[in-house]
Amino acid sequence: MILVGDDPASKVYVNNKKKACEYIGIKSFEYLLPAETSETELLELIDRLNSDPEVSGILCQLPLPGHIDETVVINAIAPSKDVDAFHPVNVGKIMTGDYDFVPCTPAGVMELIKESGVDVEGKECVVVGRSNIVGKPMAMLLLHKNGTVTICHSRTANLAEKTKNADVLVAAVGIPNFIKGDMIKPGAVVIDVGINRVAPKKLVGDVEFETAEKVAAAITPVPGGVGPMTIAMLMKNTVKAAVKQNECE
Ligand code: GUN
Repeated sequence: MILVGDDPASKVYVNNKKKACEYIGIKSFEYLLPAETSETELLELIDRLNSDPEVSGILCQLPLPGHIDETVVINAIAPSKDVDAFHPVNVGKIMTGDYDFVPCTPAGVMELIKESGVDVEGKECVVVGRSNIVGKPMAMLLLHKNGTVTICHSRTANLAEKTKNADVLVAAVGIPNFIKGDMIKPGAVVIDVGINRVAPKKLVGDVEFETAEKVAAAITPVPGGVGPMTIAMLMKNTVKAAVKQNECE
């Protein structure tokens, strides 16, 4: 795990990932680099980890400081060790449906849906958010399960009209309380990916929980909903990477 700089949220995420590794018996190495680290230094570290047989998976926590090009860094991680599934090779594989690693947050959402006994086949699935990390791969995973998928975002016109159609609504737009209860179809399954800090000790999602829970058949809380699932899926990808690398030896 690589963390550049001292973004407080990133520190918490990396620490939670470290704890999960300890819990399941994955040996983790943390590289906590100062914010001034150059792109070249970071790329050198990734190069070393790429060729280190002790390392099965590499995770570089995003966002990176402004002077480092995230795309260059993502592209430098060996696709076989890219447990985030951010490398274009892995992104491409998600498009075709033939993938080893699934991006952790969308994978966690799919697991929640499956374990709740919800079948998305033929259902109206609306994803609000179009990020490379969540919105876009989320839409693909729902599509692979035969959902009818609409991708909306912060600039979608008549958003409520679209969200009110959703049997399965995934909110991943990064705006606190953006989706209100009156934008949700009664009986819908609502998954809230947002983690927005609105006060020093208060996290809220992208869905206004108090109004949404009265309308939805099922809804995930923030915190404690999708967040822990993301970490569980990271562990799954890491084990998969290790098994695959050992198979090749
Ligand atoms: N920043 C926010 N979410 C993620 C994630 O899933 N992986 C990494 N590497 N950085 C993130």
